[in-house]
Amino acid sequence: MKTPAPISTTNLTRRSFLRSTSAAVGGLALANLPIERFAHAAGSDTLKMALVGCGGRGTGAADQNLNVSKGTKLIAMADIARNRMDQSLEILKKAHPDQVDVSQANQFIGFDAYKEAIALADLVLVTTPQGFHPYHLAEAVKQGKHVFVEKPLAVDAPGIRRVLAAAEEAKKKNLKIGVGLQRHHQVAYQEAVKRIHEGAVGDITSMTCYWLGNARAGLERLPGEGELQYQLRNWYYFTWISGDFIVDQHIHNLDIMNWIKRGHPVRAQGMGGRQVRNDKKLHGQIFDHFFVEYEYEDGCKLFSQCRQGTPGTHQQVDEHVVGTKGRADLGVQNGKYFRITGPNAWESRLKAAEVGHQLEHFPLIEAIRENKPYNELEIAAMSTMTAILGRMAVYSGKLVEWDEAFNSKLQLMPEKVSWDMKPPVEPDADGNYPVAVPGKTVAL
Ligand SMILES: NC(=O)c1ccc[n+]([C@@H]2O[C@H](COP(=O)([O-])OP(=O)(O)OC[C@H]3O[C@@H](n4cnc5c(N)ncnc54)[C@H](O)[C@@H]3O)[C@@H](O)[C@H]2O)c1
Repeated sequence: MKTPAPISTTNLTRRSFLRSTSAAVGGLALANLPIERFAHAAGSDTLKMALVGCGGRGTGAADQNLNVSKGTKLIAMADIARNRMDQSLEILKKAHPDQVDVSQANQFIGFDAYKEAIALADLVLVTTPQGFHPYHLAEAVKQGKHVFVEKPLAVDAPGIRRVLAAAEEAKKKNLKIGVGLQRHHQVAYQEAVKRIHEGAVGDITSMTCYWLGNARAGLERLPGEGELQYQLRNWYYFTWISGDFIVDQHIHNLDIMNWIKRGHPVRAQGMGGRQVRNDKKLHGQIFDHFFVEYEYEDGCKLFSQCRQGTPGTHQQVDEHVVGTKGRADLGVQNGKYFRITGPNAWESRLKAAEVGHQLEHFPLIEAIRENKPYNELEIAAMSTMTAILGRMAVYSGKLVEWDEAFNSKLQLMPEKVSWDMKPPVEPDADGNYPVAVPGKTVAL
């Protein structure tokens, strides 16, 4: 496959940036945006973009990517649902009338639609549910395209290995790959992690992280809807497509902890279950709470908690580090407050949390335009695997070593999905889906 040539650049002025992003940036203080750093990120040559998976995040990611450079045009879309694509196209056309031109011929529907959309593009946004990410990413890399792929990167270990193979191939082909772990692009996180790496809290002795919050609503079956159609529409609630919510959402916190530790845990054990997610019409098979104790190579422990869909309970989303010289608290008060206490005290108070979903598209476009190395896949694959390790430990009720988890052959996501196949899980005669039972479930 031919390596794509770099695309020449022109200047994106601060004024044109503000004009093109003011609607999307919304409540964010514009002064927070590192606009000057990306003053060269716009291009005169067209960068053709395809959107694969035209749901909520796909539409958001396309909008935010188009904000970065007027030289990017959305020219192809792929989805399995016509109504989702139509809604997405309408929103994007309104937001970017001069950057969205997706002819009928370039609108592809079905399980193989992604291949056709990818073929037309220079840059592909992969924003399907995560079970599909390894396959859609691998195809884009095979076709020699730059990619932005949403987190998490997979739901099982075979998927992670497929992603790592794609990461290698992408490097060889000089492709630029961004991943939707947006906290990496928030300046306050970057500053806090840098200080911790420079020794601000001394040697790290323990860490805690939390995502105790709201849930994506479960969806009821529509009249006449088939089993596979239903599970794919209510994908969040089926482990074979979402990986469970520890993988879908808590990955954001686990990713910060790995970033701080510059590595991944070597083992995990924990507990969890579903106490309130018990409506068989809505809640599929995922848990509603997990507690996982992870251990890193140097013996440092990470105590991680996530809970969803449990009204009336404490809410908290943040990360904390305790060291021999002080402590660090990251992302508290809904991402607005960061602080280090002790002899190297520091704090950052933001009026509004930085919009990582917007910021993450600047370095990707900059790397494509300026032909600089850019590949976020390996770090994101390790963070995804960390979340999968936690799920394996909790579902099985065992102490699970990283190596056995990483080498697991248990594949939840089928190689190929088609409308005439049976889904990997089915409800019993009473309509209940299989749910993991710690101590009994084979989870890796
Ligand atoms: N980084 C973040 O903060 C963040 C936030 C939300 C979602 N996400 C991620 O974005 C991804 C999409 O989530 P969402 O909220 O947009 O879900 P969604 O249900 O709104 O959209 C998913 C879309 O993908 C389509 N789709 C499903 N299978 C497909 C296939 N095989 N081929 C083509 N299209 C297919 C669906 O029809 C739908 O339009 C998920 O991986 C999710 O974890 C990330």
